Amino acid sequence: MSKKIIVTGGAGYIGSHTVVELMLAGFEPVIIDDFRNSKPWIIDRIAELAGRYPLGHAIDCTNELEVLSVFRNYPDIFGVIHFAAYKAVGESVQKPTMYYQNNVGSMCAVLNAMKECGIENLVFSSSCTVYGEPETAEVTEATPVQKATSPYGDTKITCEKIIQFVKDSGQPLKATLLRYFNPIGAHPSARLGELPSGIPNNLVPYITQTAAGIRSQLTVYGNDYNTPDGTNVRDYIHVVDLAKAHVKATEWLLQQQGSVCEAFNLGTGKGSSVLEIIHNFEKVNGLKLNYAIGPRRAGDVEQIYAKPAKAEKMLNWKCEYTVAEALKHAWNWEKTL
Ligand code: UFG
Repeated sequence: MSKKIIVTGGAGYIGSHTVVELMLAGFEPVIIDDFRNSKPWIIDRIAELAGRYPLGHAIDCTNELEVLSVFRNYPDIFGVIHFAAYKAVGESVQKPTMYYQNNVGSMCAVLNAMKECGIENLVFSSSCTVYGEPETAEVTEATPVQKATSPYGDTKITCEKIIQFVKDSGQPLKATLLRYFNPIGAHPSARLGELPSGIPNNLVPYITQTAAGIRSQLTVYGNDYNTPDGTNVRDYIHVVDLAKAHVKATEWLLQQQGSVCEAFNLGTGKGSSVLEIIHNFEKVNGLKLNYAIGPRRAGDVEQIYAKPAKAEKMLNWKCEYTVAEALKHAWNWEKTL
């Protein structure tokens, strides 16, 4: 059987780590990425870690004709992992149409090309944001999907719905909806990691940039939540563990007979507060971080963490790295930039 799989957004943070793991597992990824949120040298780093260059095309994933021409170029493609999307919650509130055009537009382009070329297997990059502010901090895949609080969140819910509707329409489709919790860290080699553009929105890149002196101070967004230390609780997962889950999800799809659409929570099952992350970072890297408590950030969920039992059982996948290791790897990566 062919081992070729399209990876949209394959030069991005989670995408690049996944491409490495796919190649190490014997797959042949074909990247579609126009580098708007990455850098071409990331491909060299992938080659360094995987021992060979991946195939790739620098095109815009919302361009239906170009996407289709890439698909047609490889008649033996068996599936798609679709990462390509914008992901900044605040920016999505400012520029909603840009988010729908890119995130939903690329999803439709991919699904149309899959139909046209008779490709059935799809791994979709979703988010725990689909659960909104859940009633209990621990969420399973049966926890209700709630109305989104941002256009970004709504694009993830919308894409999940589109995939389900396409399956229901009778188009042969085997799909996994991978709901990521908070991906952090970098490749243990420090050769791959996150490249935030501008001021980071996310906690860990903000921490590493503060430690590096690029930012003067980290603000903790609120310490008056109903949590053990008053700060938000999240489920931080090492990006390499997350990448490996994509390989498992791909292998799982290949074992399925007939159409299927299955959601999986990808997290560690353990929550950490913002202060715990800060103190863990300081301890594991032996440094002090300049931080101050500030007001709450609009739209932040109080606490959420995964129950990853379904992915563990059905995909035969489990997190291997600790949060401390992820924080060490994040800092090792930052020091190379
Ligand atoms: N935080 C700070 N200071 C900062 C940045 C973040 O205190 O400078 C706090 C936030 O308030 C939050 C926690 O750190 O409590 C984590 O924040 P992130 O922005 O790193 O992550 P979020 O949980 O807000 O968002 C992540 C993804 C989104 C996704 C969301 C839910 O970045 O794409 O999870 O799935 F929508």
